[in-house]
Amino acid sequence: MPLDLASICASRPQNDIHYFSTVGSTMTEAGRLAMDGARHGTVVIADEQTSGIGRLGRSWISEADAGIYLSILLQVALSPARLPLASLLLGLATAEAIEHTAGLECDIRWPNDILIHQRKVAGVLPHLVDGCVVAGIGINVNQTSMPEGLRTPPTSLRIESGGKIQQREPLVIKLLECIDTFCSMLVGNGPGSILDAFTRASSYVMGRRVTVDETGKRGTTGGLDENGFLLLKLDDGRIEKISSGSIRPDYSV
Ligand code: BTN
Repeated sequence: MPLDLASICASRPQNDIHYFSTVGSTMTEAGRLAMDGARHGTVVIADEQTSGIGRLGRSWISEADAGIYLSILLQVALSPARLPLASLLLGLATAEAIEHTAGLECDIRWPNDILIHQRKVAGVLPHLVDGCVVAGIGINVNQTSMPEGLRTPPTSLRIESGGKIQQREPLVIKLLECIDTFCSMLVGNGPGSILDAFTRASSYVMGRRVTVDETGKRGTTGGLDENGFLLLKLDDGRIEKISSGSIRPDYSV
């Protein structure tokens, strides 16, 4: 069933909401709106994406009426160097919204994966367009079969909870509320508050053995720097700052 837009709009009278039953990518539409100077909190949401964009040039499979495919404009004045903070903020908001509405505990893998039982249930993607953060969130809700062969196996809320999620709207509404909360935290209390919250919410930030996909480097995570980059204590004792790429657990020792 398509989203009930009226209930989402009623809960967000302060925001402009652009809905598409099918769209290439909400990121592209939201990027256009950002270029046109659209307001903070403007939302683009779709029931289906035909060219969903994932991180690192990957695609985001966006089956019709099964997931949440949303981009929101955040006018939070982050420089490109601080964009990882937006990723952390969005991950926190997404995990909290899922936990609150579906009652499923999430982990967040730096920088942008929301995991349940080590399977990926959601991903977030911040782009900077004309000084505005275009924040993309994809959540697998009612998918029953997921693509195979991915390095991190995907999952959905339906698979994890064992039953169909009857309504996606409460999750959308809670997600937008949580984004508001963490944006206010960033603006009001500064980046340190987001870094602290992420460190508490993620099992990957401190003391975890990981491998960096792109380089094969291994080490133990040692926290976040002031911009949200991950610090990795390599096995030779050096500290390396991971600014892009993906990590996964290292079970080799
Ligand atoms: C990732 O690779 O983990 C990030 C995925 C982000 C997907 C969302 S779905 C809504 C928005 N529109 C897109 O095309 N991508 C993001």
